[in-house]
Amino acid sequence: MLSSEIRQKFLNFFEKRGHAVIPSASLVPNKSDSSVLFTTAGMQPLVPYLMGNPHPAGKRLVNIQKCVRTQDIDEVGDNTHDTFFEMLGNWSLGDYFKEEAIQWSYELLTSKEEGFGLDINRLHVTVFEGDEYAPRDDESAKIWEKIGIPKEKIKYLGAADNWWPARKTDFNWTGPTGPCTEMFYDDVEIWNDVFMEYSAENGKITGKLSQKNVDTGAGLERLAMVLQGKDNIFDTDLFSSIMSAAGSRIVADHIRTACFMIADGVTPSNTDRGYILRRLLRRAYVRNKDLGPVIDAVINHTSYKGLYTFSPDTQEVIAQELEKFKKALDAGLKQIEKGEDPFILFTSFGLPLEIIEEVTKIDRAKFEKQMAEHKRLSSVSGEQKFKK
Ligand code: ALA
Repeated sequence: MLSSEIRQKFLNFFEKRGHAVIPSASLVPNKSDSSVLFTTAGMQPLVPYLMGNPHPAGKRLVNIQKCVRTQDIDEVGDNTHDTFFEMLGNWSLGDYFKEEAIQWSYELLTSKEEGFGLDINRLHVTVFEGDEYAPRDDESAKIWEKIGIPKEKIKYLGAADNWWPARKTDFNWTGPTGPCTEMFYDDVEIWNDVFMEYSAENGKITGKLSQKNVDTGAGLERLAMVLQGKDNIFDTDLFSSIMSAAGSRIVADHIRTACFMIADGVTPSNTDRGYILRRLLRRAYVRNKDLGPVIDAVINHTSYKGLYTFSPDTQEVIAQELEKFKKALDAGLKQIEKGEDPFILFTSFGLPLEIIEEVTKIDRAKFEKQMAEHKRLSSVSGEQKFKK
């Protein structure tokens, strides 16, 4: 099943069940939302409606949201991580809750007629085990059992895994939140149903929302991987032509993400979003100097035709950025050839360690010492400046 069919099946399934199809929001969050640099989940642009504002399209929505998660950047290249992905989601804004959400997830995953026809025997799920903020989610577990998932395939997990956003040590979330039930096909996480009935402020659960919501998220790339019988997302139709041009997973991923960022108005710079774009481009460039065909493969991708519009300037923006980078890099490498310490690539050329390691041989232990000393000196000089 091609990715375009997966999208269509998902939308049709929920449309038939009273959901209004809404378009993807930009990867760049609304000005009023400074909590994230990029849209990281389908729920992000919908926060005001999950908090109780009426949505113009109603209480049942379905969409495909473009997302970027760069905290996974170092995992890109394994079988299931990418920095850009499409999240399929159905939404109840104070309408249906656990029963329908779980039943529909199951139907869509397993139905041969209306859905993806996956084998129920290869499906297992997790539910929230409960803690001081919210009870153990026996309700979801019972719904799964009734559907036919055997007890031993329903695992209870804590808030680090089965809460959205995950309540780990760095949890500082403000907004709608709640326990979730996740679905796995063999060992691949394919869908997450979040039952948002709580609100949080700066990482503390403060109480219940005025309405109970459902927020779901299924990664298109992972669904495609499972439905196309591949063992990694880069072998799916979403990546195949990009991979042929890119030659490596990291290049394919980073250039695809860069094209989508540029489409939403991001330009390379030294701060925030622009810096993330810059890093992606540099990481790709040091691995493949011929990025033009990779960019072409992304912007002419059949799966994106008629769905997403890329900037006509994409090639130019990337070429200009990399031209500057190439000059700086060449100059730096020449100096190193003449005997300069590779550390100048950091101090004078502003390259991050990950890139430096790609372009030249370094003694990592020595480099890290130099880095620590550099940080110490700049903080001392910072303090002195501050005193004046
Ligand atoms: N918000 C949930 C997630 O991103 C669905 O996993």
